[in-house]
Amino acid sequence: MSDAATPARRLVTEVPGPRSRALMARKSKAVARGIGTTVPVFATTAHGGTVVDVDGNTLIDLGSGIAVTTVGSSAPRVVDAVRDQVGAFTHTCFMVTPYEPYVAVAEALNRLTPGDHPKRTALFNSGAEAVENAVKIARVHTGRTAVAVVDHAYHGRTNLTMAMTAKVQPYKQGFGPFAGEVYRVPTSYPFRDGGLDGVEAARRATDQLDQQVGATNLAALVIEPIQGEGGFVVPAPGFLPALADWCREHGVVLVADEVQTGFARTGAMFACDHEGVVPDLVVTAKGLAGGLPLSAVTGRQEVMDAPGPGGLGGTYGGNPLACAAALAVVETIEADGLVERAREVERLVLTRLRALQDADPRVGDVRGRGAMIALELVRPGTTDPDPDLARAVAAEAHRQGVVVLTCGTYGNVVRLLPPLAISDAELTEGLDVLVAAFGTA
Ligand SMILES: Cc1ncc(COP(=O)(O)O)c(C=O)c1O
Repeated sequence: MSDAATPARRLVTEVPGPRSRALMARKSKAVARGIGTTVPVFATTAHGGTVVDVDGNTLIDLGSGIAVTTVGSSAPRVVDAVRDQVGAFTHTCFMVTPYEPYVAVAEALNRLTPGDHPKRTALFNSGAEAVENAVKIARVHTGRTAVAVVDHAYHGRTNLTMAMTAKVQPYKQGFGPFAGEVYRVPTSYPFRDGGLDGVEAARRATDQLDQQVGATNLAALVIEPIQGEGGFVVPAPGFLPALADWCREHGVVLVADEVQTGFARTGAMFACDHEGVVPDLVVTAKGLAGGLPLSAVTGRQEVMDAPGPGGLGGTYGGNPLACAAALAVVETIEADGLVERAREVERLVLTRLRALQDADPRVGDVRGRGAMIALELVRPGTTDPDPDLARAVAAEAHRQGVVVLTCGTYGNVVRLLPPLAISDAELTEGLDVLVAAFGTA
């Protein structure tokens, strides 16, 4: 929401400043180099749509910590709820002594996810852990083992989810052998698949599954309704509904990975809602708990209840602090009209970025929904990816105090994931900086 009290971008040193540089030197001596960082500043506080660094610079946040702080960083209801809960108890383990907030989160997810059939929910800690559990549940339910995923998919960094993730560098390089029985098929990528319509793209994928895997061997098809790390790829209309029909016909569990797209991010509560797709299971994380680690699998009761008592769980899954935060997130989305706010953000961002595309032939595609919008950068007159330009633009935006992220199989996509608590003034200023960065790159 627009909030006149939120401080705007304010740079008091170069970015990164001396304190951030000193901390980065300490980091490189203490933290494994495999843990990378995108923006070279260290945060001290973050509120709404801004992040303040250790040098006192206020940066505009167009990344939401990778689509997590959708309700804004330190959203007031989340802060109050977690503060209350931390004073009551921090952990009992739901599998030992259960507590009401876990049940209330399950009820909320059962209510909010697509479809009005009876549902059940199980809570976990990270997106990858929830994806793994969705596969476990689908395997028990179907008695089958194979799992289908698509090109450019990202599902996490655990062993099974690395196998499901497409991009090797840096996510998979050297980390194999990977889990077996994972099969990858083409997706719908309108900018790069020569105008294939959604139904044709779905048929290309399902024909390959029929021929190379066999539908009767498939437990699940796991798919992001809009791809995140793979490049904010929005499939052609009709692609997801056609896949859903094929899954239903063949008894394959359709799992929507809404880890990045869920919770109002795309201008609907879930991205599946845009085409009325009702998956069997929905995986959520990120925006679910406003920054506290929480993930979930929600879906058809008969599928979710396939594993027997004790078959699912984990020490921290559905931690009470994270559950308190999630309930406050849901309340904030509903009370503050954040689904509609995401649509406003879409209008503002798309108008600006389409004007940039008209003026700059290096912007090959502008796409996305709600507050999940990206630019795919190419060599002018071609669709050849230009990852150097994406890196240069992002680095210049960072130097000017705006947090933007890159993504994409080819590393050539600049993506925007602003918190929905950002004000129009902050968003406009962030976009001004991004557009100006194209002038210098
Ligand atoms: C679509 C999708 N699935 C799964 C994951 C993995 O989530 P986590 O990093 O919480 O394990 C991510 C993370 O970016 C994601 O975007």
